Amino acid sequence: MKELKEFVTWAQQNEREFFDEVMKINRVIPLLFLGGLLFIVAPYGKFQWNSLRLPGKFAWLFMESFSPIAFIYSFFVKNLFSTTIYTVSTYTTTQLILGSLWVIHYTNRVYIYAYRAPKISPIHILPVLAAIFYNIINGYTNARWISVFGRDNYLYDENGQDIYKSPKFILGVFIFLIGMVINIHHDNILFSLRNNLDKSITKSESVKVITIANSRYVIPNGGLFDYIACPHYFGEIIEWTGFVIATWYSYPAVLFLMATLANLVPRAKSNLGWYREKFGDLYPKNRKAIIPFVW
Ligand SMILES: NC(=O)c1ccc[n+]([C@@H]2O[C@H](COP(=O)([O-])OP(=O)(O)OC[C@H]3O[C@@H](n4cnc5c(N)ncnc54)[C@H](OP(=O)(O)O)[C@@H]3O)[C@@H](O)[C@H]2O)c1
Repeated sequence: MKELKEFVTWAQQNEREFFDEVMKINRVIPLLFLGGLLFIVAPYGKFQWNSLRLPGKFAWLFMESFSPIAFIYSFFVKNLFSTTIYTVSTYTTTQLILGSLWVIHYTNRVYIYAYRAPKISPIHILPVLAAIFYNIINGYTNARWISVFGRDNYLYDENGQDIYKSPKFILGVFIFLIGMVINIHHDNILFSLRNNLDKSITKSESVKVITIANSRYVIPNGGLFDYIACPHYFGEIIEWTGFVIATWYSYPAVLFLMATLANLVPRAKSNLGWYREKFGDLYPKNRKAIIPFVW
């Protein structure tokens, strides 16, 4: 208890040092994700394991909530681990736009997504714990960079102007929004597959259905699904690429993009293999994993 109090006092008084230490951990995470996920497909959804599983929607809401909560707290709080917060008027337009992009993304990703998904299959405890750990680090480092550490050196241009009118910032936000539209549109297509099965719009005798545990899977079609197995992942990667540009290549945002790539690229490859294995010739041969016409 005494050690914890001393640690909190140290972190409050030396927050830049604390931030740098957290960034050291953050730097290793994309490599750890990639190293692990090249050998094991994260055990949820189509690749779920039959043990130590938490109910899907509960696990999703619980683990993903750490990201917006850590971000919003770290964004507004005056000193780490304190309860004193800054008001919105303290922030520049750029900071507020960047903060809003994060909150909009995660409001959709956590709450709207879980509400709209007809079903999220049980999730093994391992990805849940990894997601909680990562979401805290990622939310903290990105928020603190935008609200404190990147503010003076990066979020103003060489003339001391807030960068929100600069072409690079506008381009970054535009790319982020395009990615978000692609991501949500294809999440919606996936949701519609089960909704249609439930409503018997898709006649099960004319469509091959694969059942894993109690989850039913069919071949997705439409939009970029006609070209790649995981267009929702493709959209997610475009989103965070836009965020990297809008933050003027902030280190936490670059690391988040790398972690996203490490997570989603191997999983897209596994998804493509899964569809080919389960659906055989019914799965169109021209489809790639995550980059249309390429890979
Ligand atoms: N930034 C990151 O690092 C990161 C990491 C992971 C996810 N994400 C994002 O989070 C969202 C969800 O990702 P995810 O990995 O959970 O996607 P997913 O495995 O493709 O599943 C998405 C939803 O669609 C259902 N589904 C998938 N394939 C289906 C099929 N062939 N037929 C019927 N239903 C199907 C799933 O049900 P089941 O749950 O029953 O399989 C689930 O409800 C995506 O938008 C992704 O971009 C981001």
